[in-house]
Amino acid sequence: MRVKQRIGGEKLARLGVELREQESLAELTSLGIGGWTDRLILREGEKLPELMALLQEEGIAHRFLGGGTNLLVEDGELDFVVLQLRPSRPGVSLEGGELWVDAAADLGGAVTWCARHGLGGMEGLIGVPGSVGGALRMNAGAYGTEIGAYVREVRVYRQASGQIHSLRGEEIRFDYRHTSFAPGDVMLRARLELPRKPYEEIIAGIRVCNEKRRASQPLGEKSAGCIFRNPPGGSAGRMIDELKLKNFAVGDAAVSGRHANFFVNRGRATCAEMMALVGEVRERVFRAFGSELENEVIFWRN
Ligand code: EPU
Repeated sequence: MRVKQRIGGEKLARLGVELREQESLAELTSLGIGGWTDRLILREGEKLPELMALLQEEGIAHRFLGGGTNLLVEDGELDFVVLQLRPSRPGVSLEGGELWVDAAADLGGAVTWCARHGLGGMEGLIGVPGSVGGALRMNAGAYGTEIGAYVREVRVYRQASGQIHSLRGEEIRFDYRHTSFAPGDVMLRARLELPRKPYEEIIAGIRVCNEKRRASQPLGEKSAGCIFRNPPGGSAGRMIDELKLKNFAVGDAAVSGRHANFFVNRGRATCAEMMALVGEVRERVFRAFGSELENEVIFWRN
């Protein structure tokens, strides 16, 4: 979709929006799959209500992009534009003793910043790729840690009201890879409360998690992390592995040879190939184990 046919460049500039025309989502996602559209990068999250009102007025469909690390995007020309907050580095600050993290900050960078300031607890999240906003939305977790456990407040734009709200931690439900945020909510900032720990202890914890991750996950390959959620009490990866589906492929979309719940793009995989692979594996797991796997990866289609 082309924004300029409907909204003048000056209007966007006034809102502090940088327009990147006809970008490939394959370049903006860790899976390296997806068609093309315009991307609007917003400098200040607080301007989101105005930008959203403008898009609505002009009937321009949109999706909100975080780090693009848990996302499978349709091939070809996309009929929505992509909005993104400008990445902030480090995007973490201590304000009067309160720890605030920007949604656009890199999650790993935020964990490292906290470690340097003697704030621990999030060691398990160190290798989880993506933005803080994406992690909040899906309650990212690894090695016994989930980000939701540390959230005390979230500044969020709500499409339902067209306004920015502050939600207290207790008002948000954080479940396994799922939260009570509405689909139209956009995370802007979060206040976290982390336990104080000596730097060396935090770094030792980070090292252990990094080693475990390196030993079991295909970190050098293009993936969206685990493709399916684990069923209660089970492991999607183990089931797929037991069916001898490691390296099973549809075109360039393949089940990783290292971890069977990671599906990888081995070259020029298309969304259609990845979808076919996901469907085939889900079907085989259901036939063999009677377990209906749910996608963890988010699918953007026109
Ligand atoms: N297993 C196999 N074969 C495989 C993969 C796993 O037999 O190909 C077995 C392992 O040997 C182990 C069990 O399955 O006994 C669980 O495997 P693992 O420890 O790798 O954990 P997982 O349940 O597959 C989950 C999260 C990961 C997270 C790790 C570490 C989900 C869907 N996955 O993986 O999160 O990093 O635990 O905490 O919850 C993600 O969500 O994208 C993700 C990568």
